[in-house]
Amino acid sequence: MKILHERRGDIDAELLSALDGEPAELYDAASHLVKAGGKRHRPVMTLLASEAVGGDPKGALKAAASVELVHTFSLVQDDVFDNDHLRRGVSSVHVGWDEDTAILASDLLFSKAFETLANSASDSRRVVRALGRLAVGCNRITEGQAMDMSTPSDEEEYLAMIDRKTAELHALACGVGGMLGGGTDGEVEALEEFGRKSGLAFQIKDDVLDLTTDEEELGKPRGSDLAEGKLTLIVLHGLEHGDADVEELFERAKTGDRDAVPELTDALRRDGHVAYAEERAEELLSDARESLESLSETRAKSSLLEVSGYMVRRNF
Ligand code: IPE
Ligand code: IPE
Ligand code: MG
Ligand code: MG
Ligand code: MG
Repeated sequence: MKILHERRGDIDAELLSALDGEPAELYDAASHLVKAGGKRHRPVMTLLASEAVGGDPKGALKAAASVELVHTFSLVQDDVFDNDHLRRGVSSVHVGWDEDTAILASDLLFSKAFETLANSASDSRRVVRALGRLAVGCNRITEGQAMDMSTPSDEEEYLAMIDRKTAELHALACGVGGMLGGGTDGEVEALEEFGRKSGLAFQIKDDVLDLTTDEEELGKPRGSDLAEGKLTLIVLHGLEHGDADVEELFERAKTGDRDAVPELTDALRRDGHVAYAEERAEELLSDARESLESLSETRAKSSLLEVSGYMVRRNF
């Protein structure tokens, strides 16, 4: 996507300079996924949110990098939790190195996020406020990943879990951009709401892609959620409204029967459970876009709206 492509150069330069140090083994492990790729839509949202409230684009650059550092920290850990060996088309950190190095690399990414944000070229009161927001966001991501260790019993519990593990970082990406750009409380709130709703839609789409998209395109293993026995919105809907097949296939998939995965995927697609999740993602996208109505019409705002569309309609 054009806007993501245009903005990633500055962000990547910040990321790489934050992750240059010794011991080389640790810094190589910490920068491994950053060098492997990624969409960078979260840090671009930070830059755009700042610009949408009239901020100087340079003032939010370190904040944007700090958002991506938090994202990377969560990915390194997530691959340990989910037993996934592939990320962004390369081996996960705990596979390329080992679990001890993955723990240290994720610690480093986490603390570098705060260091980077603290060095922002912006008003110090704004920076302190943004640091507080980043800390609260990190608490919530960890709460969400902890909630993801148990099984949601219904859609409401699933949404509460993804609200923390995924939507939170999108909300803070936009909120922190708004804060550093000097936005009013109302503007920051609108940006947070936009990030949160589009973030929820983004995770629902991620769950759809996990089922429907091949490893080569996704850069991460297909069917990981089923193999881990995760109840996504799609599976929850299938278990509640589908036939007995879905339940039996899900039980087989989660106990390691790889043959059950394509069969279950077919059933979930055929019976409209994937379509149901896609509709929910579209609804959340509309809600997200409505949250920005109060902001003045700027190029940055149109770009934010464009990025949110990509988050839900992307193919990887
Ligand atoms: C993956 O995020 C983790 C989720 C919250 C679903 P992305 O799909 O944004 O991963 P990259 O950064 O593009 O690799
Ligand atoms: C990841 O959710 C959420 C965080 C990294 C906090 P997933 O486990 O679905 O992410 P992927 O699919 O592995 O990228
Ligand atoms: Mg995962
Ligand atoms: Mg996970
Ligand atoms: Mg996933």
